[in-house]
Amino acid sequence: MSGSASVIKDPADFGRVAVLLGGNSAEREISLLSGQAVLEALQRQGVDAYPVDPVDGLFEQFSAVSFDRVWIALHGRGGEDGSMQGLLGLMGVPFTGSGVLGSAVSMDKLRSKQLFVGCGFATPEFLELTSPDDFAAVPAKLGFPVMVKPADEGSSIGLARADDAPSLAAAYQAAAAFDCPVLAEGWVSGPEYTAAILQDRVLPLIRIDAGEGFYDYDAKYFSDQTRYICPCGLAPEVEAEYAALCLNAFRAVGATGWGRVDFMVDEAGQALLLEVNTVPGMTSHSLVPMAAAQAGISFDELVWQILETSCTEAAYARSS
Ligand SMILES: Nc1ncnc2c1ncn2[C@@H]1O[C@H](COP(=O)(O)OP(=O)(O)O)[C@@H](O)[C@H]1O
Ligand SMILES: [Mg+2]
Repeated sequence: MSGSASVIKDPADFGRVAVLLGGNSAEREISLLSGQAVLEALQRQGVDAYPVDPVDGLFEQFSAVSFDRVWIALHGRGGEDGSMQGLLGLMGVPFTGSGVLGSAVSMDKLRSKQLFVGCGFATPEFLELTSPDDFAAVPAKLGFPVMVKPADEGSSIGLARADDAPSLAAAYQAAAAFDCPVLAEGWVSGPEYTAAILQDRVLPLIRIDAGEGFYDYDAKYFSDQTRYICPCGLAPEVEAEYAALCLNAFRAVGATGWGRVDFMVDEAGQALLLEVNTVPGMTSHSLVPMAAAQAGISFDELVWQILETSCTEAAYARSS
């Protein structure tokens, strides 16, 4: 697709904008980078934007300055999980991206997968692990290896591959430390893709090749082994089919505005949904900006169009 023009033309129409960044989730450091990049892009375009880190006293900052809208650049719990969206909604301050429901469901990988299954969308086979009593069912239902995940974290934090019963026990202990439900998923050998979604349109898919191992925290943010391929190399009709599935999954969890859907493909060519991210990374090296660039949308335009999602749906509804 080609880059689409913005609907709002005058930066003054956005009013005073708070960029929420940082917070106290496990993804604080990435959020500070995303938020800073977003803030600079807004300011470059003449938007009256200010950084607000909730750890410095959200209420104090919001009562000192009256903000017209919020660009949410918080990743993880407390920013991406619906709680901030609920607070802002009650305060009557419009914000970017998904509302309470879409944020909360997307943050919970277990509930998201149950919803995917209910909708008839494929996702890797899985089991909820609530205690060591559940371990015995893992080889029977999923076989080894499996991926063990805390249901409520992002950025691959707390994920571990388990190849046998002892490593399953260790992976479970590590994931359970995050104080949320834990799931085991059947291992998928890939390839892996992600679909960026902007104003309810799917941008060109990106193929992620993390080389050895999987797309873990190090591969995401530090490794130079990780390759991103965009355009992704799929036949156009296959890319369109996967893109449509991702948009349907995004809508099924109640997500709106912008985000990213991660999936892998099995040997039969079937796309298996991993998760929906409602506030994906927005550093200059992140995946949504990469997909936007492929669609002819610059980082600044992307940040602007995401800010437009804080306006009513009608404001950015397009005829095409
Ligand atoms: N079932 C699986 N089999 C193999 N690799 C997986 C599986 N699930 C996740 N991964 C790898 O782990 C990464 C992170 O998983 P994901 O579910 O997207 O969680 P998050 O990005 O929130 O940490 C994926 O990008 C992928 O590389
Ligand atoms: Mg992911």
